[in-house]
Amino acid sequence: MENKKIIYSGIQPTGVLTIGNYIGAMANWKAMQDEYNCIYGIADLHALTVRQNPAEYRQRAMSFFAQYLACGLSPEKCVLYFQSHVRQHAELQWILNCYTYVGEMQRMAQFKDKSQKHEDNINMGLLNYPVLQASDILLYQASLVPVGADQKQHIEITRDIAIRFNNLYGETFTVPDIYLSKHGAKINSLQDPYAKMSKSDTNENATVSVIEDADSIMRKFKRAVTDSEAFVEYREDKAGISNLLTIFSVMSGESIESLVERYRTLGYGKFKNDAGEAVVEKLKPIRAEYDRLMKNKDYLKETAKSGADKASFLAEKTLRKVKKRVGLVEN
Ligand code: TYM
Repeated sequence: MENKKIIYSGIQPTGVLTIGNYIGAMANWKAMQDEYNCIYGIADLHALTVRQNPAEYRQRAMSFFAQYLACGLSPEKCVLYFQSHVRQHAELQWILNCYTYVGEMQRMAQFKDKSQKHEDNINMGLLNYPVLQASDILLYQASLVPVGADQKQHIEITRDIAIRFNNLYGETFTVPDIYLSKHGAKINSLQDPYAKMSKSDTNENATVSVIEDADSIMRKFKRAVTDSEAFVEYREDKAGISNLLTIFSVMSGESIESLVERYRTLGYGKFKNDAGEAVVEKLKPIRAEYDRLMKNKDYLKETAKSGADKASFLAEKTLRKVKKRVGLVEN
C-alpha cells in the first residue's frame, strides 16, 4: 500500500442498510476512497451479540456486501471484506480484553441500551463489543474513522485502549481520530424526528433502505412526521423539517441554505414530495447495480475473498508486533 493515511470503518449486517448509514458513514467512505487507503469491513462478528437466524444472517451479510459495492465502494480502490474472514480481529480482541477494564465497558451507552432491549441475553460479547471494534481499527493502524455520531463513545474508548497500550509497551498503535459529517452525522427517524434512524426499527415507515423501491420511498416521505407550522426552516425545534432538509441536501447536492430559500413558503406537501424524489433519484442506480450484483454470487464471493486476503496480510503485521510486545514466544 502506498504511504497514504489509513481509513477504517464498518457496518453491522443487521436489519436494512438505511439512508442514515449511507449519509452518516458511507457517503464519506466513498468520498475518501480516492485519496486514502480505505478498509471497510462487514462487521459480522459484532452482530452475533444478538441472536440471528443463521440462514437469514448469511444471506443478509452477503446482501450488505453487495450494497457496499452498489453504493460505489470499489474493490480496486479499497479493501472490502467480512470481518469473520480475518481471524486476527478475534485474536487481537483477546489480547486487548486484558488491557480494558470491566467498568469501562459497563459504562458504554450501547451496552446499557442493548442490555435493556435484550434482557434475556446479556452475553459477554455485548459487554466487550467495543474491544472488538477497537481491534478492527487498531489492527490496520487507521488514523481516521468515518462514522455517525452514535459511534463517538466507541472511538473514544478505542483511543484510550491504544494510548494505554502504547504507554506500556512503546508506540504500537496509531491513535485514531473520529471523522464526522458536518451535516448528517445523525439522521433521524421519519416517524420520530427526535430519535436516530435505526436499521432495526420495527416501524417500517421510520426508515428508508438504500435499495428500496421508488413507490415505497415516496410513500414514506409523504408520511414523514413534521410539525404544525407552515415554513420550511432549519432549526433545532423543527426536528422533522431539519432532518428532511439534511437528507434532501445530501442526496441532491444542493446546500441547506439554498433549499430553505427555495422551499420556505411552498408548503410541506411540495417539500416532502421533492425531498422524496431527490432520494429516489440518488438511489435508483444503487438499486440497479445491487440487483445486477446479486445475480452474480461468484463475483461477490471472489471479491470478498480477495478483500480478506489483503486485510489479513495487513492485520498480521500489527498482530505480530503486539504479540512480541506483550512477551508471547514468536513462531
Ligand atoms: P452500525 O452498523 O450501527 O452503523 C453503521 C454506520 O452508520 C452510522 N449510522 C448513522 N449515521 C447517521 N445517522 C444515523 N441514523 C445512523 N445510524 C447509523 C453509524 O454511526 C456507523 O458509522 N459498531 C459499529 C460497526 C463497527 C465499526 C467498526 C465502525 C464495527 N467495527 C470499526 C467503525 C470502526 C456499528 O454498530 O455501526
